[in-house]
Amino acid sequence: MKEIKVGMLGLGTVGSGVVKLLRENLPVIRGKLGAELVLKRIAVRDTKKDRGVSVEPGVLTDDFESVIADPDISVIVELIGGYSPAREYVLAAIGHGKHVVTANKALLACHGEDIYAAAASRGVEVRYEAAVGGGIPVLSAIKGNMAANRFRTVLGILNGTCNYILTRMTRERADFAQALKNAQALGYAEADPTFDIEGVDTAHKLCLLLTLCFGTRVDFKDIHTEGIGTVSALDIEFAARFGYRIKLLATGKLDGDRVEARVQPTMVPMDDPLAGIDGVCNAIRVSGDYAGSVMFSGRGAGMEPTASAVVGDIMAIARNILVGVGRRSAPMGFMDEEIVRLPVKPIGETVSKYYLRFTVPDHPGMLAKIAGALGENGVSIRSVIQTARKGGAPVPVVIVTHEARQMDVSRALDTIETLKITSENVRLLRIEDDLEVVSIRDVPTGDGSELPRSPL
Ligand code: NAP
Ligand code: HSE
Repeated sequence: MKEIKVGMLGLGTVGSGVVKLLRENLPVIRGKLGAELVLKRIAVRDTKKDRGVSVEPGVLTDDFESVIADPDISVIVELIGGYSPAREYVLAAIGHGKHVVTANKALLACHGEDIYAAAASRGVEVRYEAAVGGGIPVLSAIKGNMAANRFRTVLGILNGTCNYILTRMTRERADFAQALKNAQALGYAEADPTFDIEGVDTAHKLCLLLTLCFGTRVDFKDIHTEGIGTVSALDIEFAARFGYRIKLLATGKLDGDRVEARVQPTMVPMDDPLAGIDGVCNAIRVSGDYAGSVMFSGRGAGMEPTASAVVGDIMAIARNILVGVGRRSAPMGFMDEEIVRLPVKPIGETVSKYYLRFTVPDHPGMLAKIAGALGENGVSIRSVIQTARKGGAPVPVVIVTHEARQMDVSRALDTIETLKITSENVRLLRIEDDLEVVSIRDVPTGDGSELPRSPL
């Protein structure tokens, strides 16, 4: 039986999952591929370290260059993470004419352009299904069976660690720090977990989705990014009283010749399926002009689901090799020359409803002062909750607004700050009542020329 030789860089959570999957599902893979995937070499920093999986003698090495340059190896799997040395190794592998599989969204969001250009010039593939949504085959669907669609909106829950922490805080009133520790122990978190909780990992993933869906490059630093560190048990409780769940939501929208791109803890209605995506699960909702709204969900992090996506990519490349084809698809779904760079809409111009929680002394006139500042800045109030009087001690006053521009809400909060009536920082959360992404073509008609066009 023909063999396809694979080299792997890194043997941590995901790498160990790949070793385990290739071993346990060998007959399944062989039966579907008609060939054998052989993990010939694995490069690690310390060959003596116990990694919880056994590998054949001679497979482990600390010589990364020798794996990358091995003439027998056709596919290099990068599972180190981070920017460097992952970038150098991936470029070197491409330089040696190897196809590359990676799960590294940070690398692709920041250095994807160089990597894709190098891969195009060497005629090799770069595949990265595991970089977004763990085991959910969402990128293949967007690039593959949904490729004929124009997209206007992509949104979702893209970080398993944050969703796991928020779920535990909601269901069991778990402590944030303890829930994070558990997520790390389960192998969900990044090597630097601040990337997860500060929303950076979600912004990296959104960056990739924006290019795949809209054909635009966006610098991940231009994505307005907030993490979940300021979400408190009290906000989760108030959210429930108003009929919402708090989720770290990534949103990308085409808006004329600009793109809206943000990552924020957001209140989503309890009856929206996104509110029911719990634990390590992720969900991505896209709307194609012909396919309509489609939501993908499943396990977004962890050893097994991520290994499933990595090995799926290796098999896709192996199939090409077996029929003698080098590169069959552009890594970002669009031909390189079609990819544009649309500006990102400033966050201040974006519009939504807001949840505002003030902590103020329970004195007459406090609510009037807050309402006055909001009104003067054009922010209209939808509902208010003030909890029971505690003998003049500070109490939470929660206001839910009607739709308002973020810059108007910020101005109102600046005014309230000058009144010196709040004893804690004001908590602000976006509320998204209508998350059902609308197709730009509900009913296909004629040649479509009357329809609003994406810039592409
Ligand atoms: P991990 O457990 O930290 O493993 C990283 C591996 O890379 C380890 O074997 C580590 O070596 C090695 N490594 C780290 N720095 C290195 C360096 N400077 N030079 C050489 N080797 C180095 O990470 P992971 O969770 O498997 O994640 C790997 C990649 O998959 C990352 O890009 C991550 O974002 C992505 N990803 C992870 C998940 C998940 O659920 N964990 C899901 C989707 C995507 P040592 O063993 O010697 O420390
Ligand atoms: N740290 C990431 C997460 C891994 O928690 O979602 C999956 O990309």
